[in-house]
Amino acid sequence: MLSKKNVTMEKIVSLCKRRGFVFPSSEIYGGFAAIYDYGPYGVELANNIKKVWWKTMVQLREDIVGLDSAIFMHPKIWQASGHLTGFADPLVECKKCHVRLRLDHLLENIGVPADEKMTAEEIGRLFKKHEAKLKCPNCSGKSFTAVKKFNLLVKSNLGDFTDDWNKEPVYLRGETCQGIYVNYKNVLDTARVKVPFGIAQIGKAFRNEITARQFIFRTREFEQMEMQYFIEPDREMAEYEKLKKERWQFYLDLGITKENLSWQKHANLVFYAKEAYDIEYNFPFGAKELEGVHARGDYDLSQHAKFSGQDLSYTDPITKKKYLPHIAESSAGVGRTVLAVLCDAYHEEEVNGEVRTVLKLNKQLAPIKIAVFPLLKNKAELVKLAKKIYDQLKADYLCEFDDNGSIGKRYRRQDEIGTPFCITVDFDSLEKDDVTVRDRDSMKQKRVKIEELKDYFREKLQ
Ligand code: GAP
Repeated sequence: MLSKKNVTMEKIVSLCKRRGFVFPSSEIYGGFAAIYDYGPYGVELANNIKKVWWKTMVQLREDIVGLDSAIFMHPKIWQASGHLTGFADPLVECKKCHVRLRLDHLLENIGVPADEKMTAEEIGRLFKKHEAKLKCPNCSGKSFTAVKKFNLLVKSNLGDFTDDWNKEPVYLRGETCQGIYVNYKNVLDTARVKVPFGIAQIGKAFRNEITARQFIFRTREFEQMEMQYFIEPDREMAEYEKLKKERWQFYLDLGITKENLSWQKHANLVFYAKEAYDIEYNFPFGAKELEGVHARGDYDLSQHAKFSGQDLSYTDPITKKKYLPHIAESSAGVGRTVLAVLCDAYHEEEVNGEVRTVLKLNKQLAPIKIAVFPLLKNKAELVKLAKKIYDQLKADYLCEFDDNGSIGKRYRRQDEIGTPFCITVDFDSLEKDDVTVRDRDSMKQKRVKIEELKDYFREKLQ
C-alpha cells in the first residue's frame, strides 16, 4: 500500500462538492461570491471542531465561561473599537477589466512583502516602486487606479425605515470579540469569576473581503471561535505566552501534522495589538493564517469605557488594587480549521493497482463514525439484521446505513468522507451472531460479536 498526500486545492474542492462537505452558496442562481454553504458532512465536521474547541476552552477550564452575543450591536461599538477607521484593506482597480484587487496580495505575488496592516502611505510607496512589475490576475492588465483603503465592515439597514440608512448604518459584526468586551462587566457581575478569567464565544462574523480567494479560506461570511482572557496588566505577557502554547497544542490534538504548522510573528501590528502571532497551516497554496493570538493590552476596555462613559475597571477583592484588565486573545476561524483538517487528512493510496482516496480524520472529528452495510440489498434477513445493528448504534454515534452498490464501492465512499469503521452483515452473521468490522486506515477486517459491538466502539471511539 503506497500512501501519498498528493493534495491540491482542486482535489479538496472537488471532494467537498462531490461528497457533500461544502457547496458554493446559491449555486442554482450561479453562485454568490465568497460565500459557501456546509453540506451534510461539512456541518458535522465543523460542529465536531466547535465541540472540541468548546470543551477545551470552556468545559475543561474553571477560569473561562461562554457567551453568545448578538450579531447586531450598537453602531458606536465599531467606532470605539477602531473598526470604522482602521479596519480596511488596500484596494486598487485594474483599469482594463475593472476588477478590484488587494494591493498587498498583488505585491506578495511578485515577492514583495506587504500586508493589509500597512498604512495607505506605506503601501502606497511600495505600489509606486513596483507598479511596473504588477499584473492583473484577471486580464494581465498593467495599469491600476491609485491605492485606497477599503473598509471591510458590512452595513445593514436594521431598524432604519428611511431611505437614508446609509448615513447611520448598523453593522454586521466584523469580529465576535466586541460582543465579549461589551459584556465583560455583565459576566464579572454574574458569573463566579475573578481576574484572570476568560470569555469564549463561537459565532458568525462578516467582512467585505475585496477578493474571494482560496475556497473557504477567505469568505465574506464566516465563523470565529474567540476567547478573550482578562488579565492583571503585569501578567499580560506571561498569560499571553501560556495561551500561545495552549493554542498550538489544540491543533495537534485535532490530529494536524506538526510539520504543517508554524508560528508567524506580525511584522506590522493591527491597530489594537501590542504583540501578535499567527498560527499558520501549510495549505496547498502556501503557509497561511489559521488563528491569531494577540496581546491587546487595555486597548479594548479603555476604548469602550471612553465611548460608553461606563467605568470598566476591576478592583482586586484581596489587594483592592484597581485597574483596567489587559487582554490576551485567541481568535480562530471555523472554516479555516475545516480546510486545514481536510487538507491534512487527505491521502491517496494505491491499493491493488487502484487509487483509493481516504480522509484519515481524527476519529472525534469524523462526520460519520460507523457505516453499517448488509452484504446484499435483496436479502431481507441481512437487511433486517443490519438495520437492527444500525438502530442500536445510532443512539451513541452518528451512523450511516448503506445498501447501495458493491461492498467495495461502499467502502470507497466511506473512505472519502473519513468514516473510521464499516460494519458488514453477511450470511455468517446470521449463523454466528458476528459481523465484519473494517478499519478505515489499515483496511484490516475483524469479526466482532454483535453483542460486543457497543463495548468495541466505546473503546475505539473514545
Ligand atoms: N478578533 C481578532 C480577529 O478577528 P483576525 O486575524 O482578523 O483577528 C481571526 O481574524 C481569525 O478569523 C483568522 O485567523 C481566521 O481564521 C478567521 N478569519 C478572518 N477573516 C476571515 C475570512 N474572511 N474568512 C474566513 N476566516 C476568516
